[in-house]
Amino acid sequence: MRHLLAFLVGPLCLTACGDKSGTPPDAAPPVAFVRQTADAVDHGARVANVLGCTGCHGADLAGEDWSDPEFAIMWTSNLSRFVPTVTDAQLRTVITHGRRPDGTALWGMPSHLFTRLAERDMAALVVFLRSKAPTGAEHPRPVFKALGQKEIAEGLFKSAPVEVAEQGGLWPPDAGADHALGRYIVRATCAECHTMTLRGGTPYPGAEPRPDLRIAAAYDDAAFNRMLRTGIAPGERKLALMGEVARGRFRHLTDAEIAAILAYLRAVAAKDP
Ligand code: HEC
Ligand code: HEC
Repeated sequence: MRHLLAFLVGPLCLTACGDKSGTPPDAAPPVAFVRQTADAVDHGARVANVLGCTGCHGADLAGEDWSDPEFAIMWTSNLSRFVPTVTDAQLRTVITHGRRPDGTALWGMPSHLFTRLAERDMAALVVFLRSKAPTGAEHPRPVFKALGQKEIAEGLFKSAPVEVAEQGGLWPPDAGADHALGRYIVRATCAECHTMTLRGGTPYPGAEPRPDLRIAAAYDDAAFNRMLRTGIAPGERKLALMGEVARGRFRHLTDAEIAAILAYLRAVAAKDP
């Protein structure tokens, strides 16, 4: 809610408050996740949940086995062991560049989504990551099998630094300053699957198709909020992958953030159908 208040109060103060001695009021609302709690670790945990860090790396950040005998030996890293070995600056660079300090590329880590994170959201993530005690084993780096090698050769599966080079500077469609927060959240979350243009598509053969996110304009407020928290769409349809990310990640969004996402998607649908 805080950003909405800042939005209402900030511009008024610019013209009416007139006190030149104090710090200048914010000209714009902070475009970042809403800070609901004074506890920095709890706030960072919510940001990490929404961004999927805990979904992929596990609630204890000890990493998960993604191996598939045809595709690759592949684990999400054990962050609880990695984080104590690097400085804050190195950690931020790994997250946003998709390369380890030793220069090797990450695979399967969606760094391109995190290149535009607000300073205060990145700071919250670092506080949360540092709060976890080391636990579990270190995991092997990826070893690609025939299918993985084929998808890499065909350009279907790209390393994190390549995704950063291609998409790290992109944004979803602009719908004006009023929708900056919705656009910011959508870029860091929905764009992972629905793409930066929000047009959706089928990322690899056999994947569940992702609809064009302009479809959200067909939802009313309550139905959209329910779908994003539960994965149950109008008509009591239980969504598959979308349902998993809704229950695992998006139920941690605040009502104000969900409203900002919907308002933004409606504006995009109206402006760029
Ligand atoms: C879609 C799943 C996914 C999401 C979401 C994700 N990661 Fe990762 N991440 C991975 C995978 C997979 C690797 C391992 C890549 C490799 O070994 O090549 C990784 C590696 C890393 C590394 C490198 C650690 C090391 O040991 O080298 C860091 C740091 C990291 N992730 C932090 C984060 C943070 C912070 C977030 C949330 C902002 C996040 N990740 C979100 C999948 C994910
Ligand atoms: C991990 C991938 C993934 C992410 C992240 C994701 N989606 Fe989806 N979404 C899907 C897939 C796949 C579908 C198609 C339904 C299914 O198979 O689950 C879908 C369907 C939808 C639908 C259509 C539901 C219907 O009525 O049929 C909407 C609306 C939607 N997503 C909104 C969002 C929003 C908003 C975000 C970000 C907050 C988001 N999605 C993030 C994968 C994703």
